[in-house]
Amino acid sequence: MPRTTDRLPFPYRPEAGVLAHRLSALQGALDWAAAATQAAPWVRAVRENPPPFWAMESLLKEYPISSAEGLALMRLAEALLRVPDAETAIALTADQLGRADFDGAADSTLARLSSTAIAMSKKFLPEAGNEPGLMAKLGAKTVVAATLRAVQLLGRQFVLGQTIEEGMKEAASARKRQANLSFSFDMLGEGARTDADALRYLASYQNAISAIARTADPKHAPSQNDGISIKLSALHPRYEDAQNDRVMRELVPRVWTLCEGAAAANLNLTIDAEEVDRLELSLDVFEALAKLVAQHCPQWQGFGLALQAYQTRAVELIEHVAALGRQHRLKFMCRLVKGAYWDAEIKRAQELGLPAYPVFTQKPHTDVSYLACAQALFNASDAIYPQFATHNAGTIAAILGMATRQGAPFELQRLHGMGEGIYREVLKNPAVSCRVYAPVGAHRDLLAYLVRRLLENGANSSFVHQLADESVGMDELLLSPLEQSKPDVMTSTLPLPPELYGSKRPNSLGLDLAVVAHREPLLAAHAALVLPTVPEATGAEAQAAVVKAVQAFAGWNHTPVAERAATLRRAADAMQHQLPRLCALLVKEAHKGWGDAVSEVREAIDLLRYYANVAERVMAPQTLPGPTGESNTLRMEGRGAWVCISPWNFPLAIFVGQVAA
Ligand code: FAD
Ligand code: 2OP
Repeated sequence: MPRTTDRLPFPYRPEAGVLAHRLSALQGALDWAAAATQAAPWVRAVRENPPPFWAMESLLKEYPISSAEGLALMRLAEALLRVPDAETAIALTADQLGRADFDGAADSTLARLSSTAIAMSKKFLPEAGNEPGLMAKLGAKTVVAATLRAVQLLGRQFVLGQTIEEGMKEAASARKRQANLSFSFDMLGEGARTDADALRYLASYQNAISAIARTADPKHAPSQNDGISIKLSALHPRYEDAQNDRVMRELVPRVWTLCEGAAAANLNLTIDAEEVDRLELSLDVFEALAKLVAQHCPQWQGFGLALQAYQTRAVELIEHVAALGRQHRLKFMCRLVKGAYWDAEIKRAQELGLPAYPVFTQKPHTDVSYLACAQALFNASDAIYPQFATHNAGTIAAILGMATRQGAPFELQRLHGMGEGIYREVLKNPAVSCRVYAPVGAHRDLLAYLVRRLLENGANSSFVHQLADESVGMDELLLSPLEQSKPDVMTSTLPLPPELYGSKRPNSLGLDLAVVAHREPLLAAHAALVLPTVPEATGAEAQAAVVKAVQAFAGWNHTPVAERAATLRRAADAMQHQLPRLCALLVKEAHKGWGDAVSEVREAIDLLRYYANVAERVMAPQTLPGPTGESNTLRMEGRGAWVCISPWNFPLAIFVGQVAA
């Protein structure tokens, strides 16, 4: 049965209130000045003696993600490695490189990385434009092959090996160079689209767990053994809230096989955190598994999940997980991250017209939340072993300070290919240990992961980006997030989703169907709705309707435009008010899914408001210049009465749009 209540607070709350709560939770728990003092020498050491330069940093320095070239690169990184045929690969490369200006790149890092690609594109693309056929004649295959190599090189930075054996070998040699290191292997794969994909990913996790188990010591605590990170979206093709029954029936047994393997060898198995709209569903799965762990292997203390501090519900989530641990007498391993899907969450909330964002919208607020979450994790040390995943020197130092005060065990974590410099310094303290999240797998499964790393490395606000940018001074780099967070003066430049189109056109309000409070009104409207019988008009009735419309036209046409626009806006407001009932009608009558029904009603509302604005702009009488004594005014007229037949597939939105226009 789908959930009838959510465990966590409503995700779309005003940010200022949540921030104030987080700040007050941190009072007396944090000495940022001491943290900055501890972090400064790490930063200095890394800047003076940077670790070997990776492809990603070099590329982003040359081509920032905000530039046309950076964007082209990201699009290629996302798509090129999975294009199956040469022709499409050529077309894609031509399209992307043709769009960007790589001129003057002769001695650039990009030229170094994919020298042929750039040389060829510089040579041929100005003439060839985006025309793939021509490019092929000019040797485009070399361009594509070289570009492919450049993107593969990017990928190599973040992947420890193509197979688990390769990854484990790399891990073993890294351990020889650096003590206090453990690994969490991540078999690349996410967002399975078919069950065959999901089963393939499942087999690769099972295989990896067996391999890790062979080298692990079951007498060691999971915190000392290597472990595995899994993404639930890899293991089921419909890992979404609307498929709750199926997910519980099919996904839980799959993940349980992985838990059994990890428990037998005493490994840490972490469920990665993914998109916000999957959080409650992931808790359904996590709770079902926790119950099984409590029944079958209560001594195992390696089961856990990742928690995203950028979510405004993060602290409550931690309290919920701790309560679950206590209820089942289990101890979970909880990895605290800031969150890797920020851009996608912002876009989703805007597209869905949600009342607020589910994540913080200012970077220091996420930093503050991270520290408040850290405090909450330490407070729950009876039920949680905390793992702090961050590459930010200030955050690391603040956590170390808190840990010293709390005296509770914990570990730090970093991603393979990131944060090496800072951790080289941090791990000079032998009391600190670090686990490396180490992706393993084929390049074709890397893409979404690679794009998240590109965004993380490329964002101006990101610590690793600022660390690599010598123009950012130490004070700025280690500025206190607490001082930058003022709930009474929210200065976000990001409009809330309802204000997306500016003050002149309110956005229609949508719903998040993964939130019980949002779907309840829809289900209630559906239950209450009795389908009206649709009357079939006779010829005479149709004719009478046409006559009525024709007669009404003159009056409508002479109504001032402001009044007509106001009528459209009133209609929009009325539809917004009746959204649940209209959705229920679309579901019952047009057999739409709920998501499509909400989109359709919103589209109708948007069209009404849009045309009201357009009408006021284009239909206001305009005085034209002319000879003395003449007055010339341009006026738009309506075109007369007309008929719109509502189409079956968008019975409301297309009908309303045409009529309103
Ligand atoms: P910082 O530069 O201090 O912080 C960057 C982060 O701040 C961004 O990633 C974002 O979360 C946040 N941010 C950026 N801009 C804004 C803004 N305008 N408003 C509000 N917040 C903003 N991520 C997951 O989602 N799920 C996982 O399971 C997961 N596992 C990980 C495991 C490990 C070991 C590590 C190291 C990372 C993992 N991540 C995961 C990725 C993680 O979320 C990012 O690496 C992390 O956010 C970077 O934070 P930082 O402290 O290193 O850097
Ligand atoms: C991601 O996949 C590391 O889980 C994190 O981006």
